Amino acid sequence: MTSYQSAKEEIKNTADIVELIGQYVQLRKAGRNHVGLCPFHAEKEPSFTVSPEKHTFHCFGCKKGGDIFSFWMEYHGATFPEALRDLAERYNITISEGFSQAAERQKAAKREGLYRINEKTAAYFQKTLKHPAKGKAARDYLKKRSIPGEIVAEFRLGYAPDEWDGLVKDVRDHNMDLNGAVEAGVIVPGKKGGYYDRFRGRIIFPIFDLRRGERVVGFGGRVLDESLPKYLNTPETPIFHKGRSLYGLHSSHAVIRERERAVVVEGYMDLLALKGHGLGEVVATLGTALTSDHIRKIKGIAKEAIVVFDPDEAGIGAVLKSLPIFLNEGLSAKVVELPEGHDPDSFVNAEGLDGFLELLDRASSMFDYCLEKRLERSDSDVEGKVHAVREILPVLSALRSSTQRSLYVRRMAERIGVREEALLSELRTLGKNLSAKGLDRGLKERVSGAKAEKNYGDIQLLNLLVHHPDAAARLMECGSQILISDPTVTQIVGAFFEEYGKGETVSLGKLEESLESETARIKLREVFVGCSFYSDGEVEQAVREIERKAYQKRLSDSVKMAKGDIEGLNKLLKLKAQGPLRS
Ligand code: UTP
Ligand code: MN
Repeated sequence: MTSYQSAKEEIKNTADIVELIGQYVQLRKAGRNHVGLCPFHAEKEPSFTVSPEKHTFHCFGCKKGGDIFSFWMEYHGATFPEALRDLAERYNITISEGFSQAAERQKAAKREGLYRINEKTAAYFQKTLKHPAKGKAARDYLKKRSIPGEIVAEFRLGYAPDEWDGLVKDVRDHNMDLNGAVEAGVIVPGKKGGYYDRFRGRIIFPIFDLRRGERVVGFGGRVLDESLPKYLNTPETPIFHKGRSLYGLHSSHAVIRERERAVVVEGYMDLLALKGHGLGEVVATLGTALTSDHIRKIKGIAKEAIVVFDPDEAGIGAVLKSLPIFLNEGLSAKVVELPEGHDPDSFVNAEGLDGFLELLDRASSMFDYCLEKRLERSDSDVEGKVHAVREILPVLSALRSSTQRSLYVRRMAERIGVREEALLSELRTLGKNLSAKGLDRGLKERVSGAKAEKNYGDIQLLNLLVHHPDAAARLMECGSQILISDPTVTQIVGAFFEEYGKGETVSLGKLEESLESETARIKLREVFVGCSFYSDGEVEQAVREIERKAYQKRLSDSVKMAKGDIEGLNKLLKLKAQGPLRS
């Protein structure tokens, strides 16, 4: 074992996988395993399974799975070396350098470089905000916006001076890589050579990740006056993806878990104002539409989201767009409407936290809100109702669960005062154009289900090996592999026997590493996190059954081959005389 592998094993053994994943996904105990809603695909019934015994997780829906390292990489979008380092740090385990493949190491080093540049850049902006002369206007601006000093410090707000090369100089002074700074998106190469600062004359909001909480992945910047664009963001980089970041989540994560709800606002200033008034469970989307990625992050730690948007047409449009994502992700969503002309920032500054909390108490279900909004526009005339139906039905027809769909159809029928049947038939017409994909998926599931049944024998053998490894010697000796019809299972059983032959205990991790195909790894994990088909008392009988079947199979194969061949027939008779237990 190389040193990194022993470190990996040590981390795995130290970490409590349920506790770790439980930080990001709400898990409940189900037998020996823990289950929850998968953070990697849309689902409403938990098929995401964590097995503490096997140190592994597996989603029966999207088939993603693996150990704590795979989880960390997938959830945080990190490379393996980063995951190894993060988790080593978390569990106080020392690792030697030089552990992974060159390509992975390079990728990790590059990302590390971007984090470093962001860190230096954030420090530079912070320093400038504190500068007596250069930062004065920005400090005055923040004061005018009532952002308290503790919030400025906690969120590491800064100021980009109105200069073309302030940061460029700072990067040079620190002997940092200018190209790296270009890649981090903080400086821009000029058309005629040279470089200039991306952010000039702007209040700077560093954006942090969740991986370690305090690392800067990107920046937002606001002008101090009315000039345009009002906000500017870091472009997409290997460590910054706008559609995946929720501003403030690093600071609100623990409170959201505790209160089991998240308040979702649109802007940097809204978030900071609410934080400043003491609302802990708030995140901001940075002006983008809510994505399923955002919602999965929230649903992993909260029971509901309360969306607070400006009551203008754009805000309502955004809410309407996010409704199907919430419904499909199965996260309960509510909406708060602010009084005309307010955004969360102006409202909480005018009415205080109590006023805002009162609004939250009166939040209505997102579906009802959208329906009402649409009906309100045209009141009770027929045209208006038809229009509302036209807008809401496509949302419903995009829902994956038919139960949920009919539930909402009923609610809508009652509210509008039409027969449910009429809406259902409209929905069917709509559905015809949309459901080809869904049908495909349904068919596929059925077909693969049927295949699984046919291969039941294969799965039995694998199940026995995984959950009762004491039986492995006999299963190997009787040539049980002959019974397998699924090539994937052949691979797994082959790998199992090979490991077993080395005289070591066969662990899931080692097997996964030795398997080349992802299909094989998925199947293997499913057996590992699944339960044993046999109680201890039944194992003996099951092994005997397999021994007998393997013998019979060899016999009948030989009969086929020996047709008309006397010598072959003689061999066969000898085999038959020996019986099933010895070969
Ligand atoms: P708003 O225009 O509602 O700004 O945009 P705001 O948050 O209320 O800002 P203040 O109060 O005027 O300072 C909401 C969010 O949309 C993104 C920003 O993340 C902003 O916080 N946005 C807005 C941009 O990315 N670019 C823009 O030009 C405008
Ligand atoms: Mn505002």
